[in-house]
Amino acid sequence: MPIVWSQETMSIGLPSIDADHQKLLALINEVEAVALQRLPADVIERVLAQLAQYVSYHFRREEEMMAKAGFPGLTEHEGLHEEFSDRVCQLTAQYFIDANLADAKELLDFLSNWLVVHIQSRDPEFVSWVKGAAVDGAA
Ligand SMILES: [Fe+2]
Repeated sequence: MPIVWSQETMSIGLPSIDADHQKLLALINEVEAVALQRLPADVIERVLAQLAQYVSYHFRREEEMMAKAGFPGLTEHEGLHEEFSDRVCQLTAQYFIDANLADAKELLDFLSNWLVVHIQSRDPEFVSWVKGAAVDGAA
């Protein structure tokens, strides 16, 4: 099932980060669409590569903001991002062994669950620091 962005339950109050999160959800939905339609592996691989690239861009952006804002939980938060990236690599590799549907579903469940929980429970922790230091890129 595609994940639908909800301003009410998913916005963390930083427009630039919200925009990234919406883009990430859209990319996960695209992975779901191509994987469940059983499109050729190279198509799925291309979408997964786009997602991985955007994830790393987004994590770097968040981490830079947290660093500039002096957020004390930066190292822990970086660890969460790293665990996520490692697990995505593992699940992606597992999926490409034989591109079976069960592995695709495991990967998709992990991507969407992790992201939504992370957006709702961990990202809000740094918002007041970033706003206080005015380092969110907003004018
Ligand atoms: Fe984060």
